[in-house]
Amino acid sequence: MKNLTFSAPCLLGMEGICANDLKFNGIESAKAENGRVIFSGDFSTLARANLISRYAERIQILLDEFNAVTFEELFVKVKSIPWERFIGKSDSFPVKGRSLSSQLHSVSDCQKIIKKAVVDRLSSCYGISWFEESGPVHQIQFLIINNRVSIMLDTSGAGLHKRGYRKNSNDAPIKETLAAAMADLARVRPNHFVVDPMCGSGTILIESALKALKIAPGINRSFSFEKWSQIPKSVWQEERERADALKNNDCDFSAIGYDIDDNALSIARSNAEKAGVSDRIRFIKRDIRDFEFDSGFETVICNPPYGERLLDVNEAEKLYKIMGSKFVPEKGKSYTIISPDDNFEKVFGRKADKRRKLYNGMLKCQVYMYFMS
Ligand SMILES: C[S@@+](CC[C@H](N)C(=O)[O-])C[C@H]1O[C@@H](n2cnc3c(N)ncnc32)[C@H](O)[C@@H]1O
Repeated sequence: MKNLTFSAPCLLGMEGICANDLKFNGIESAKAENGRVIFSGDFSTLARANLISRYAERIQILLDEFNAVTFEELFVKVKSIPWERFIGKSDSFPVKGRSLSSQLHSVSDCQKIIKKAVVDRLSSCYGISWFEESGPVHQIQFLIINNRVSIMLDTSGAGLHKRGYRKNSNDAPIKETLAAAMADLARVRPNHFVVDPMCGSGTILIESALKALKIAPGINRSFSFEKWSQIPKSVWQEERERADALKNNDCDFSAIGYDIDDNALSIARSNAEKAGVSDRIRFIKRDIRDFEFDSGFETVICNPPYGERLLDVNEAEKLYKIMGSKFVPEKGKSYTIISPDDNFEKVFGRKADKRRKLYNGMLKCQVYMYFMS
């Protein structure tokens, strides 16, 4: 099927990074919007985006966008979508969504109206009035913001941040998509030596390794669309082969992760193993107070405790101060640190060369970047 429009929702602040990544992978139409990237293509584009996107939260087919303030308008518009192109007689099609600042504010009522409209449409197409919904899931999603309705069909299933390697996590793991964005902002390259001095479950180093080795983040997981009878198996097969061919094992990338918590370190080792990058990363127990550099060229990336889920703010700021004394400006080194603390630069002791606002879930953070030549 050609000429489909797709939406890739992503964390706020990561829209540009997400669009560039899709473009880099041949999806030229990718365009950043607020909280999402829009692009067009066919089923191969859909399979590729699911497989390779490091920053998108999921890939949806964007079926329609329109204004609606009454249930009647919502019903008529949803019924006019050619659902039979995507949903078969026995497929299951649950509906979920959100509504913000809109007249149609009751999510459960919108859910019922949308379901009824889809059932009406499919009933007249297939000549049946009862749908067993025993087949593959085609999750319908809606988003209503300021009376503007977007109707989507999810193709990913579990969120794309779930790469399949992090069955285990410690107390405050960073989302894989955000860790990948930090690796991008830190300009991780295939010949880099990356250090995370408070690595927890190892997400930042694992995402850095996947990026450096050009390993598709979705290569070890499955997606809902794989079960859809509407998409030929060959499409998925070809995109997997393309992704496999891009892997670059012939590079010098290596990394080291430190933490004071033995349990976090053992989780990190097991996650790196599952991600297939354990030969590139060492995990060692060390307090940041004893941190020292191993070699001349280091890309340091760090997600220290925030004083939110771990430690209190005073304890967290003590660590920022220690980091400031250890992470000295020196040729060959760069530092990329994420924190929600507006006092970070003051406590760390230096103004960042660059800053980027990003959301870690609901928490507004900044990524502070210090680059030396
Ligand atoms: C926010 S978590 C890092 C989460 C990590 N990015 C992940 O994906 O799991 C902060 C980590 O700092 C570690 N930590 C706290 N104090 C430390 C210290 N003094 N030295 C080294 N690590 C420390 C904690 O054990 C915790 O694993």
